[in-house]
Amino acid sequence: ATKDPYINAIPKVELHVHIEGIISADLKWKFSQRNGQPIINPRTGRAFSSLEELRDSHNTLKPSIGNRMNNSEETLSFFEAYYGGFEALKTQQDYYDLAMDYYEHAAAMNVRYAEIFFDPQGHTRFGASWETMMQGFREAQQKAEQALHVRSGWIMCFLRDESPESAMEHYNAALQYRDMIVGIGLDSNEVDRPPSLFEEVFLRARKDGFRLTAHCDVGKPYPLEHIHQVVSTMAGGGTDRIDHGLNAAGDPDLVNLIKEKDLGMTICPWSYIRHQPLDEVFERIRALFDAGIRITIASDDPAFMEDTWVQENLLVAKKYCNFTNSEIQRLAQNAINESWVSEDVKNRLL
Ligand code: HPA
Ligand code: ZN
Repeated sequence: ATKDPYINAIPKVELHVHIEGIISADLKWKFSQRNGQPIINPRTGRAFSSLEELRDSHNTLKPSIGNRMNNSEETLSFFEAYYGGFEALKTQQDYYDLAMDYYEHAAAMNVRYAEIFFDPQGHTRFGASWETMMQGFREAQQKAEQALHVRSGWIMCFLRDESPESAMEHYNAALQYRDMIVGIGLDSNEVDRPPSLFEEVFLRARKDGFRLTAHCDVGKPYPLEHIHQVVSTMAGGGTDRIDHGLNAAGDPDLVNLIKEKDLGMTICPWSYIRHQPLDEVFERIRALFDAGIRITIASDDPAFMEDTWVQENLLVAKKYCNFTNSEIQRLAQNAINESWVSEDVKNRLL
């Protein structure tokens, strides 16, 4: 729990967390030991020899307040460390344990409902089968609902640094698990990968009745054109939510457009502290909120930051944006309103 009783107590909905973003060094080590599979350091080509060494490589990634990430030669980049976690997952039990790890954290934070991202392409490229992956997730999802009273749905993300053809293949394969999947998203490395590259598969998903969202402008200033596409042209008229998009705050036309379309934005403060000056991050979050945009606060990749889950993200937003408790309550309510669960369940979340 955080030091803030109000934040601890309020019922929460989380709309932006990557299941692979909770793979800590400890979880990675647990899976790799259990499966008898070494974890290779991509910088040296050698296996990590101890949990401590693996923890250190993760720690170099972590931002701290006022101290932005330093991408030196020895430091694994976020994506190197992140995709290293996928390789450790082998069995249905691994997928189950991973998802249960999130659900247990969620229950302890009074999270009542979560929409959880997963990146199937990152798993199939290491040889995982859809069945291993989805049955592990499904079993955990059911257990969490019954035993922990945490409900959830899955958002399947395409890796934007993979090809649009690969996205379409994975889309087709996922259809047999469509009862678990509430929406479609887009993530991974944004450099030179505008959302429009994935227009065909997004349009198809729209026609098939999926809700849509896309990561854009993850803290670092990528072209605002990416946000523009997500807001107004993707899938023939824009997605249903935006993930991140923080730097829209610096463009009054974009702010107006997001407002006009009444789009929710998932905002993950700890992710931006990695890349962008602290003052700027919180001024922009505050500006989006004050403009009346329905932002929600979420955690993104807790294991790759300072073990910062949704409650720690709410805490840092409260502190540096000077949100009052009633404003925190509004942020929590935004997450319920912006979620893709049925109206019937929505009304029972609080
Ligand atoms: N950025 C982009 N894609 C991601 C991230 C991130 O921080 N985490 C998981 N997928
Ligand atoms: Zn994300």
